[in-house]
Amino acid sequence: MNKLYFGDNLDWLPKLEAKSVDLVYLDPPFNSKASYNILYRSPVGADAQRRAFEDTWHWEDGAEAAMEAVRRSDVAIFRVLQALQGLLAQSDLMAYLAMMTVRLLELRRVLKSTGSIYLHCDPTASHYLKTVMDAIFGPQNFRNEIIWLRSRNPKGSQHASRKFSPSTDTILYYAKSDASPFFEDAVRAPLSPEELRQKYDRSDEYGPYLDGPILRSASMGLRPNLVYSYKGYTPPEYGWRVELEKLKEIDESGNLSWSKSGAPRRKLRPEDDRGGPIGSFWGDIPPVNSQAEERIGYPTQKPLALLERIVLASSKPGDVILDPFCGCGTAVHAAERLGRSWIGIDLTYLAIQVIEDRIKTWLPLAVYTVEGIPKDEYDARRLAELKPYVFQEWAVGRVGGQSRGRGRDKGIDGEIAFIAGPGKYGHAIVSVKGGKHVGPDPIRVLKSVVDREGANMGVFICLNDPTADMRTEAALGGRIELPGGERPRIQIVTVHDLIEGPNLGILTELNAVRATQEARVVQRKAPPKKPTPEEIRSSPSFKLPLKGGRSKDQQKDLPLGEPLLIPQTEIRIRRRKG
Ligand SMILES: C[S@@+](CC[C@H](N)C(=O)[O-])C[C@H]1O[C@@H](n2cnc3c(N)ncnc32)[C@H](O)[C@@H]1O
Repeated sequence: MNKLYFGDNLDWLPKLEAKSVDLVYLDPPFNSKASYNILYRSPVGADAQRRAFEDTWHWEDGAEAAMEAVRRSDVAIFRVLQALQGLLAQSDLMAYLAMMTVRLLELRRVLKSTGSIYLHCDPTASHYLKTVMDAIFGPQNFRNEIIWLRSRNPKGSQHASRKFSPSTDTILYYAKSDASPFFEDAVRAPLSPEELRQKYDRSDEYGPYLDGPILRSASMGLRPNLVYSYKGYTPPEYGWRVELEKLKEIDESGNLSWSKSGAPRRKLRPEDDRGGPIGSFWGDIPPVNSQAEERIGYPTQKPLALLERIVLASSKPGDVILDPFCGCGTAVHAAERLGRSWIGIDLTYLAIQVIEDRIKTWLPLAVYTVEGIPKDEYDARRLAELKPYVFQEWAVGRVGGQSRGRGRDKGIDGEIAFIAGPGKYGHAIVSVKGGKHVGPDPIRVLKSVVDREGANMGVFICLNDPTADMRTEAALGGRIELPGGERPRIQIVTVHDLIEGPNLGILTELNAVRATQEARVVQRKAPPKKPTPEEIRSSPSFKLPLKGGRSKDQQKDLPLGEPLLIPQTEIRIRRRKG
């Protein structure tokens, strides 16, 4: 049942069965107009920073189509969008709301009538999203606006600021209906030793206790069946708080006492304390900072503890959890650890790769399938034909790069930052041509883009074997010395190569991450070896916390891998003369 889908959630959600999901958590890009750096550091300055995904939504990118889809699906909600459009016009924010609405409608369809949905956003758009959520799920099903303190050190600025530094995210929690459960006891906050000491302030031969009632109060109403006599005492008409059997148990364990006036009381013990209920301000879950053990390096990675709280509060073991914007898979990880089934969807091939690595390394017994990734050349060609942008995202990801996103490519479909020596990075431009007939011209264009951008290398991806003209054009680009040996400066990669696993002779940081993780998995099968102090010092910083959950046993700390050897050579470019 566990599934990972690569592609736009709007393409996948309609394929999910109606009323099949118990809990949705979604953490969509926030329209914060920021692009995020990913595992790669910038090879050639700020302009060339790699982007994991475009955190912006634009009107021209399909907002009209989204509005139209909403109109066809639910006229009442379309009217709400129209009203918002009256205020926001055709702005990027309006585009974001339209594209979120069409997806939220699908999420309502797949949620069971006992389901719940948590929408993670920030104050940029949370007030508009709440209006949309009210319209879709009903204001009566609104349960909480959770405020998560995502930053404890608000950022200062060298310039005078005109506002308080934003430090919180907003999580809108809605139920599908009154029947949606909330497991309050599963997420209580344990009291600190000091709080326990203060609360349980009396003691007897069994230890500290709190003096509490054992009789029902008038406000609890009449319960004739709980009015019975015990040890010669019969309570007033409201009765005891427990049935006779339970009362005997309490008495036998030394927890029933009698006041001087002869009234019964109950001794409550700290070991039975269920902790305090959790409020809607979550200031106790730290963000995934650069030192956090669970850090993977994916931008916007959310803490596992945050997702575990949500999963525990609104689902039970065996339930189905869906994250349609799953990023590096924090919700997937929480669901698997807590014994739930899960479905993750992400548009970025990098996200799928990272989640697969995450599962392989820390949840090795998880059983799941991946959908949407071409398995053979036929699949890949079909993807190129039917979904050119998804094909581009996949193709660029296969060569270790990151896609540029739709539209604004300036001749660049993707970029690769590769390791060119200790602390040094090379920069490659990727051009993808998914058409059946491709000649030498686009290779010429790629060469000029590589020159214009001052990049080290160009990678040309096409469906079929290159013609002789194309090979000649690429060869005219000269050769480049890479850590793994000399290579053409313009390399041609076909769909066949993409399926087989392309070899450009470069090592990207993602390769390094994967290789290190592979090494750990291989080593795990070998007899455990105690890491040396040197190995501990050189271990990667993206270890995850290895406690709790269903797969506790599966998630023992893995022996550390040998540090990955990164070739020390630097890049030298040799161009052909003339
Ligand atoms: C804020 S991140 C999610 C982070 C995630 N909660 C985690 O802890 O790793 C948003 C993700 O949504 C993905 N995304 C954006 N638009 C999408 C779409 N239309 N369909 C599927 N995924 C999308 C992005 O690739 C990105 O990985």
